[in-house]
Amino acid sequence: MSLKEIQNNMEYQKVILDQRLRYYEPNGERVYKTFADEISNSLRSNQKSINPKFFYDEKGSNLFEKICALPEYYLTNAEISILNQLDNKISSHLDGDFRLVELGSGSSTKTRILIQILESLQTYVEYIPIDISRILKTSSRILQSDFKRLNITGIIDEYESGLKFLKYYDTKKNLIIFLGSSFGNFDLEDGSKFLSEINSAMKKDDLFLIGLDLVKDKKILECAYNDSEGITAQFNLNILSRINSELGGNFDLQKFRHHAVYNEDQNKIEMYLRSIDRQTISIPQADLTLNLEKDELIHTENSQKFTISNIKQISEKAGFEIKDMWYDEKQYFAMILLSKND
Ligand SMILES: C[S@@+](CC[C@H](N)C(=O)[O-])C[C@H]1O[C@@H](n2cnc3c(N)ncnc32)[C@H](O)[C@@H]1O
Repeated sequence: MSLKEIQNNMEYQKVILDQRLRYYEPNGERVYKTFADEISNSLRSNQKSINPKFFYDEKGSNLFEKICALPEYYLTNAEISILNQLDNKISSHLDGDFRLVELGSGSSTKTRILIQILESLQTYVEYIPIDISRILKTSSRILQSDFKRLNITGIIDEYESGLKFLKYYDTKKNLIIFLGSSFGNFDLEDGSKFLSEINSAMKKDDLFLIGLDLVKDKKILECAYNDSEGITAQFNLNILSRINSELGGNFDLQKFRHHAVYNEDQNKIEMYLRSIDRQTISIPQADLTLNLEKDELIHTENSQKFTISNIKQISEKAGFEIKDMWYDEKQYFAMILLSKND
């Protein structure tokens, strides 16, 4: 399939802002329909749930940035400390010019460290951020004005669509990055499939750098997802505001509480919204009337934590070879550099 066919199939609109910045955006009707259909299905199940990808409207993305700055949310600083020491370590793996491709780029704050590394090795750097959130437009503008040798092509869509696009893009080498332990939001089975999809979108000499949060003390983990300022609670509840404003829902946010617990058997944080009363909610544009019992939980996110042996196992299973692995000082977080195994 050609790139043009992919663009047409995905109903992308190409927006060219200038010579160094362009992005592909899906048709608004498709985005709205996906949201309505998925909400309608997942809130009808026995265990009601909302996919965490729907957290990220513009308000949700801004709240996530606030979470990253919280003292309890150690993940960001741990990952930054690894990235800050990566310069010489990763350069030895970068043979020739690489394009940087980022899954779930968000504000692209940490990406700056990698752009600087690539700029020190190459005449110019191409960057493809892929993110479901429209925050991509703002972050790309800021990056473009700060890095004069950076050329950006953004894809405002789901990871999987971005990967399809990448597969047919061209023959240049890619360094694909997936930061923030966002991979932990997949359940183990879907995560394993997704890693295989990344692998099959990669060419022989491409590299994949992934940041993963490690298993640690339950108290540290639960504090990270139950911060004292209540920002994570606002982030979690915002998903209901989004359903209200985009799908005509009538959730009363006062009648829900943020609930995040560590499941020690499965090494994952589970995040929910708890209904404090028996209540009925109507979401007309998802064609749904939702009955909730008192204390019933709507599942909104998992955040899987990993052990080194998990990481080795899932990487191998998806057809990767581990080229290198780096940790922060406290060994809270790991960054793993992978290549295709064949
Ligand atoms: C946990 S945040 C991480 C942001 C940034 N990479 C970091 O490390 O701080 C996840 C990011 O991925 C995006 N995202 C979540 N689910 C997605 C999906 N299914 N497809 C594309 N982007 C997604 C969100 O919009 C958000 O910017």
